[in-house]
Amino acid sequence: MFRSHTCGELRLADAGKTVTLAGWVQRSRKMGGMTFVDLRDRYGITQLVFNTDVNAELCEQANHLGREYVVQATGTVSERSSKNANIPTGEIEIIVSELKVLNVAQTPPFTIEDNTDGGDDLRMKYRYLDLRRTAVRKNLELRHRMTMEVRRYLDSKGFLEVETPMLIGSTPEGARDFVVPSRMNPGQFYALPQSPQTLKQLLMVSGFDRYFQIVKCFRDEDLRADRQPEFTQIDCEMSFVEQEDIIQMFEGMAKHLFKELRGVELTEPFLRMPWADAMKYYGSDKPDLRFGMKFVELMDVLKGYGFSVFDNAAYIGGICAEGAAHYTRKQLDHLTEFVKRPQIGAKGMVYARVEADGTVKSSVDKFYSQDVLQKMKEAFGAKSGDLILILSGDDAMKTRKQLCELRLEMGNQLGLRDKNKFACLWVVDFPMFEWSEEEGRLMAMHHPFTHPKDEDIPLLDTNPAAVRADAYDMVVNGVEVGGGSIRIHDSALQEKMFEILGFTPEKAQEQFGFLMNAFKFGAPPHGGLAYGLDRWVSLFAGLDSIRDCIAFPKNNSGRDVMLDAPGCLDQKQLDELHLKIDIEEQL
Ligand code: AMO
Repeated sequence: MFRSHTCGELRLADAGKTVTLAGWVQRSRKMGGMTFVDLRDRYGITQLVFNTDVNAELCEQANHLGREYVVQATGTVSERSSKNANIPTGEIEIIVSELKVLNVAQTPPFTIEDNTDGGDDLRMKYRYLDLRRTAVRKNLELRHRMTMEVRRYLDSKGFLEVETPMLIGSTPEGARDFVVPSRMNPGQFYALPQSPQTLKQLLMVSGFDRYFQIVKCFRDEDLRADRQPEFTQIDCEMSFVEQEDIIQMFEGMAKHLFKELRGVELTEPFLRMPWADAMKYYGSDKPDLRFGMKFVELMDVLKGYGFSVFDNAAYIGGICAEGAAHYTRKQLDHLTEFVKRPQIGAKGMVYARVEADGTVKSSVDKFYSQDVLQKMKEAFGAKSGDLILILSGDDAMKTRKQLCELRLEMGNQLGLRDKNKFACLWVVDFPMFEWSEEEGRLMAMHHPFTHPKDEDIPLLDTNPAAVRADAYDMVVNGVEVGGGSIRIHDSALQEKMFEILGFTPEKAQEQFGFLMNAFKFGAPPHGGLAYGLDRWVSLFAGLDSIRDCIAFPKNNSGRDVMLDAPGCLDQKQLDELHLKIDIEEQL
């Protein structure tokens, strides 16, 4: 037997027992004739003690242990004289009688501690060492508990977990595919699924009316803190349902996860916000509702007084930061610089403070009388001590997005985005299509299989851009944690959708013939949703990036720096796959 207990297990009640532990040497300290070694495993840390007066040879052996050596120690559990209240095993120590080095270790490139001295790149290169750290390990434990709870909830509701293939065909809509060459079919490629969307719809045709899968998805898109090229979805689909059934089922799951994993009991139904309102009042389809600062439009109030920036604007809007009138000129200048950053792109920012006596003092006082400024104050419902920040621009949507960034920044600066507070909502009634400048055509906002709202179907012929979809996203604290829709189950309507999206009938048949054909064999009404598992875990763990809840993530350039992937293939492999590389430095 390698060990009788783990390093996180022993308590005062175990005093007197003879035990054997195995683990890694976290650190060792020599104090006079005594040597103390912190032994660590996944479960915790236990202190080992060696006394030179009792066994000089053993103590000498302990003095030679390096950091991260793997050892096995047998000894007696004993009450500590100086207790450590910071760890659960802090009341005991092991008086060691036998010590065996199971393996030596090189000095690790960074300290395996909560506050490590390793930078991001180094930690990623030696991720297996980083995973020894409690903070990172805890995220993986949370991830495990979450998938267990997801399975428990969905199983109790009659969902069946079905695996779908990873090697499928490429689909032109959505993000770019990762592709895999086929040796047996020269010149042909599989694609890795961006999601199992069409496959789960086929499972509905097969009669598996409640499906789920915790599944890897692959998207070749630009990376951000909440995006990885491979990530995990909790993918679900149901037959014989309407939007309301799906919302109830998965709101129930969200509440179950909050309760089991965070101890947060959410009793109220989640707020529902039409997409148009989310854009109008928050400039985002994923508003962070942990705080207010709802946009107020000021076109009627501030246009026409000779301030050309506003007079020429297609949109003027602002937010009111309660109690922030104390902002100094320097802080306001920083905010102006913030909105002018190229990523945000505003031309400038106007501000106004509501003074103690109720008067408004603004950066554009020379254009506006106190009367007009008071009207503006009323539009916000602002009071003494509040700070009003205003942006304008010639493109309403763009300006709202800039104002959204400013609102989030103010939320950060004023400490209103508390990680232990949760604001959940459904954004509903998404537009069916969005215009793509790059493609010069309408694209499906969610995906081409989404059902238009019944009442908007006539608009498909006359004004497709105005058609709304039976699509919904769940948003928590400004993060899109899931999304889905009711699907089209009628092959004629699906064909029409492809036509609007610019597919010729031949191209639609080539790409999606399998789905449209399947719909001819009795497809039930169906719909579903997919949650982003990585985003849920990082939300519950309070992380800023999903990277730290993934065992082996990619960096921002899509590289695995530990495996040094992606990499080149040797000529033999390329020949087998009939591939020629057209970039000089790779040859
Ligand atoms: P969608 O594309 O909205 O829908 O994806 C569903 C959820 O997956 C998460 N997500 C990601 N997480 C990490 N990295 C990424 N690159 C990434 N992309 C998406 C988000 C998102 O809400 N087939 C549909 C679902 C459906 O209609 O049922 C789909 O994939 O949390």
